[in-house]
Amino acid sequence: MAAPAAEGVAVSAAAALRAVLARAGRAAERSGRAAEAVRVVAVGKTKPVSMLQQLYDAGHRCFGENYVQEIITKAPQLPSDIRWHFVGHLQSNKVKPLLAAVPSLDMVEGVDNEKIANQLDRAVNSLGRESLKVLVQVNTSGEESKSGIDPSRCVELAKHVKLACPHLIFSGLMTIGMKDYSSTPENFKALVDCKLEVCRALKIPTEQFELSMGMISRTPLTTVNFIQIEMGSTNVRIGSTIFGPREYPNKKQN
Ligand SMILES: *Cc1c(COP(=O)(O)O)cnc(C)c1O
Ligand SMILES: *[C@@H]1O[C@H](CO)[C@@H](O)[C@H](O)[C@H]1NC(C)=O
Repeated sequence: MAAPAAEGVAVSAAAALRAVLARAGRAAERSGRAAEAVRVVAVGKTKPVSMLQQLYDAGHRCFGENYVQEIITKAPQLPSDIRWHFVGHLQSNKVKPLLAAVPSLDMVEGVDNEKIANQLDRAVNSLGRESLKVLVQVNTSGEESKSGIDPSRCVELAKHVKLACPHLIFSGLMTIGMKDYSSTPENFKALVDCKLEVCRALKIPTEQFELSMGMISRTPLTTVNFIQIEMGSTNVRIGSTIFGPREYPNKKQN
């Protein structure tokens, strides 16, 4: 299956992943961290299980999905040692089905209100599964379409997750920058400011705090420099750059 063209040449998803990992590793090293310190989440939404399996066979274990119905369908068809991330806004009526169908769900990147946090907490408890890592999603772009809590309220929500949700592990913050990637550094900077506030307020050591910054959309691999890693991201969510452009058979593009 054709993945994104790097310098005009179609490469396999596994080859694209290798290039992404190499570039992410170099960005980590440029920022004084070990290459392995940064996690690459391969976001396979709209892509077939066979493509995810190829990346699994190449050794990758961390995958992300953005639609509950899709992860529920895909996860049982793939090896159980995959560490799944649910990325983006999660609807409250989907919490139970998501957790029930994906026992190896490792992290929810996108808790943007207390209600969702409480529902996740209760679902983890009632399923008796191990605690679930969560990132609080912050709306740093001010764009109408971007979910997330307002930056002025991130301490409040982080505090709720950390102190009132015993079955969740508050792990850090996530944001989706502006569509125009060139203007996202400002959004990422805003997320770093939120991190500092949260760490100070909740007395969390800054080096034990995750940041997930995205997205990079269809940026050609050769120009992806992972500035978000240099800005402190510990987790990067990469979709089309690994898998090629998304395929929405009967759905509207979004
Ligand atoms: C789809 C998605 C991604 C991956 O996007 P690309 O631009 O294809 O890399 C990252 N984060 C979220 C929240 C997504 O929904
Ligand atoms: C994101 O923030 C902006 C500015 O506060 C707001 O107008 C917008 O509605 C927010 N988006 C969502 C989905 O809440």
